[in-house]
Amino acid sequence: KNPFHIAVLAGDGIGREVMPEGLRAVRAAAERFGIALEFHTFDWAHCDYYAAHGQMMPDDWKQQLTGMDAIYFGAVGWPATVADHVSLWGSLLKFRREFDQYINLRPVRLFEGVPCPLAGKQPGDIDYLVVRENTEGEYTALGGVMFEGTEREIVIQESVHSRHGAERLLKYAFELARSRPRKHLSLATKSNGIAISMPWWDRQAEAMAARHPDVAWDKHHIDILTARFVLQPERFDVVAATNLFGDILSDLGPATTGTIGLAPSANLNPERRFPSLFEPVHGSAPDICGQGIANPIAMVWSGALMLDFLTRGQGAGRAAHDAILAAIETVLREGPRTADLGGAASTTEIGQAIARRIAQA
Ligand code: NAD
Ligand code: IPM
Ligand code: MN
Repeated sequence: KNPFHIAVLAGDGIGREVMPEGLRAVRAAAERFGIALEFHTFDWAHCDYYAAHGQMMPDDWKQQLTGMDAIYFGAVGWPATVADHVSLWGSLLKFRREFDQYINLRPVRLFEGVPCPLAGKQPGDIDYLVVRENTEGEYTALGGVMFEGTEREIVIQESVHSRHGAERLLKYAFELARSRPRKHLSLATKSNGIAISMPWWDRQAEAMAARHPDVAWDKHHIDILTARFVLQPERFDVVAATNLFGDILSDLGPATTGTIGLAPSANLNPERRFPSLFEPVHGSAPDICGQGIANPIAMVWSGALMLDFLTRGQGAGRAAHDAILAAIETVLREGPRTADLGGAASTTEIGQAIARRIAQA
């Protein structure tokens, strides 16, 4: 396609600081590999917009984004002015659900040169993909508060797990595992305590495993799974999880690789009926915002995933992805580094160092 149309939504906080560095890298790679991109910047889906308009996005947001090939997204949330559930249900979670981005793919990898917080782990020991269900599960608006303000106050929040949703998540995850050298899948479960939905998930996984006999698989209750992410990360290759479990695992995993400031994500509608969305795993980090010290690598890596997805993992997009990853690897090995990795470099310095490597690669 010529050109690809990319919606740019920087969001709040450090989203606005890392986005320019993500764009710098994506542009450098696109130029080098001859990929035509047209960027469309939208000044909504952030909390200042909410302050001015009483909602996070214009009413016609969906029409405005519908012709886009991808959405490049920073981070949303400014809890000092807008409650988090309002800002997130008014933007990011709407995109994921309305654009049916049912796969949230979150790579976790320990890089050479980054000190590992886990004792004795080397690059190669931590290298797995979290495949998070992204449209249903524990994230719902179904429920309510009764007898509010009284001693009888009750709150109920339902979870929703559809057959369609579980099957498509597991099919994607098993096929992804099949495409990797180790061909292994782990399912996050909690079928001992969450006694209706989680045994049901186990059964869906058993059925999908029977259709993928070449993929070895196991399941782990979420509690011990978090312990194994810390103690035995080398056991994992592809990790499939419901929405909430996947959310938790995808901060824990990157933390074991030194910082969540590296972690990218791809919110995919694999059938391409709707635009997919690429964003860091991390949020708007109000605690460091305005200092110019945020690590832009998660944003940059998310841009690499975007280019790869646009060209279906082939050709120029794949080459651009690989060049961006190679540049990230070099910068992590040789420096400079941001404060989350013990350095003193600014967001811009890291972005420039990566873009320079991409152009040279
Ligand atoms: P956070 O990810 O924003 O920050 C957690 C911690 O990690 C902070 O100490 C922060 O300084 C640090 N950190 C995060 N990204 C970093 C980076 N690139 N470089 C260096 N350090 C980094 O999580 P939080 O504090 O729970 O949430 C803050 C806001 O972001 C909230 O409004 C939350 O709802 C929102 N949020 C949005 C998204 C998203 O848009 N996808 C994701 C997570 C949180
Ligand atoms: C993430 C974030 C979001 C989530 C929040 C901000 C709603 O933590 O993308 O991981 O829980 O999915
Ligand atoms: Mn999260």
